[in-house]
Amino acid sequence: MKNKFKILLTRKLHDFVLRELEKKYDVTVHSGKIPMPKKILMKKIQDKDGLICFPYDMIDSDIIKSGKKLKCISTYSVGFDHIDVKLAKKRRIKIGYTPEVLTDATADLTVTLILDVLRRVSEGDRMIREGRWKEIFGAYDYVGTDVKGKTIGILGMGRIGMAVAKRLYPFGVKIIYHNRNRLSKTREKSPHAKLVTINTLFKSSDIISIHIPYSKETHEIVDEKLLGKMKKSAFLVNTSRGKIINESNLIKALKQRKISGAALDVFRNEPIGKKHMFTKMENVVLVPHIGSSSKETREKMAEITMMNLKLGLDRKKLLYSV
Ligand code: DGY
Repeated sequence: MKNKFKILLTRKLHDFVLRELEKKYDVTVHSGKIPMPKKILMKKIQDKDGLICFPYDMIDSDIIKSGKKLKCISTYSVGFDHIDVKLAKKRRIKIGYTPEVLTDATADLTVTLILDVLRRVSEGDRMIREGRWKEIFGAYDYVGTDVKGKTIGILGMGRIGMAVAKRLYPFGVKIIYHNRNRLSKTREKSPHAKLVTINTLFKSSDIISIHIPYSKETHEIVDEKLLGKMKKSAFLVNTSRGKIINESNLIKALKQRKISGAALDVFRNEPIGKKHMFTKMENVVLVPHIGSSSKETREKMAEITMMNLKLGLDRKKLLYSV
């Protein structure tokens, strides 16, 4: 009988997926420290044909070079900035990812964050839990900001950016966007979106929402200069990748009240601890990288991750290939 392919999962995935994988492959699931320590990963990958990984696993050149038998890497994420794609491709290793299925969940979370930071929802929740409700009875106390009438600036009008724009348009907002390419007139039409330069986006928006992928080119693209163009009354929302923003520049802008607030799902180094500067700021809403984290979406992502791996090991076309 032909030897089974060996596969490694850097952490546990849904049971229904594990059961499926175990029927066909010799499966190893890492159960220790998360993310899987590099040394252990380098060792465990040596005899594996397939790898299922997550956004916190750095699949860099050391890992790929150690995986001498590696035929397919399947990441449980839409982002693949944690994988050395160039080297993997050079070694003819297939790479699968999970776009589309998480568009709605991520767009829902983005809108949630926008409403939260504008209407100070999480801040109010903290206030009640700390027994401070009585401080806010006056007419001017604890006022938030309306969404209606505002200009929303979408940085990166891909699937998620567009889904956010479409959700927000019915609130009575103006949508502007910055993207590498202009969208077709038909696509622009339904959220009535207008292409602008990145400088205009930062200058004119009341709420800026980031939806570009992370890469060398987008590393800390949102820096002091761009943040300095924002209105004092504006908010910044990021559900993409933390390193797109220069975090110390953002902290400075928030501290000095050069912008009104921020809502963040992603950070430069994750997870952030309770002593992080952001946790001290009332005008910042924080969530622990949960853009795709709904039961339904995560199950679909798990299914696609498994399918991509199986197809890759069979040397077939992946459902979603990087
Ligand atoms: C992704 O899939 O890349 C999301 O950020 C969730 O990790």
